[in-house]
Amino acid sequence: MGVTVNGVELEWRERGDGDAILFIHGFPFNSAMWGHQLAGLPAGWRGLAPDLRGFGASEIGGEPVFGMDVFAADLAALLDQLGIDRVVLCGLSMGGYVAFEFWRRFGERVRGIVLSDTRASADSPDTKRARHHLADRVREEGPSPVIGALLPKLLSPSTTRNNKGVVSMVRAMMEETPPETMARALLGMASRADSDPLLRTIDVPVLVTVGADDVITSRGQAEMLARGIRGARIELIEGAGHIPPLEQPDEFNVHLTQFLAGLPKNSLSTRSAGL
Ligand code: MLT
Repeated sequence: MGVTVNGVELEWRERGDGDAILFIHGFPFNSAMWGHQLAGLPAGWRGLAPDLRGFGASEIGGEPVFGMDVFAADLAALLDQLGIDRVVLCGLSMGGYVAFEFWRRFGERVRGIVLSDTRASADSPDTKRARHHLADRVREEGPSPVIGALLPKLLSPSTTRNNKGVVSMVRAMMEETPPETMARALLGMASRADSDPLLRTIDVPVLVTVGADDVITSRGQAEMLARGIRGARIELIEGAGHIPPLEQPDEFNVHLTQFLAGLPKNSLSTRSAGL
């Protein structure tokens, strides 16, 4: 399905009817990573998994840097087009950075947040420099520098050993991402705001998940994230690295389903109702 928002044609996958949950993919993946979650959603939920601009089947457009604000504005505009007022956000890694930005700008539209293998802090100066360097290389050499840097770290040893299907799917998503998209998103991540001060403003239910073998976002970082948000729950997912929704979909879905079942009924928030 596709619709034009903010000058680009965005595509998304969707399944189910009812209250909306918006799945936001990581870098450099696409909506295909949420296939198990769309298929496993409990009754009464409508899952929407967009391809962020430039990724998957969505157009790239002319924006030179894909800041998290650009992605968040696209998602809000997509919800507008679909007539959806409030959503649960579920973001993995870069998708989590986008979820923070969505909260910052459109918090009254958010009913709950699932943050998987992500962090609130901005990049260190060294990481920023490395991202700029990688963006230059990708523009010159194609996607292989990103794939070479990321692929060995993405999955748990057991996924790499026993689940060749996931390994090849992850590789395929990375290979399909245009180098220019990678470069713009790398620059966008490097310039993202520090969301640590935002955590104490989050007053909707939050579930934090992290793969026990994630070497990109450590368990310690996920624990720190959960501690910063009042009432947040954290779940450690054994046998998963950086992409638990793909590596351990059944376990991820159990936690997601429990979280959704525990949410207060959907209604206009006090903020959006102007009370
Ligand atoms: C991701 O999975 O989205 C990336 O690891 C995020 C990042 O590079 O910080």
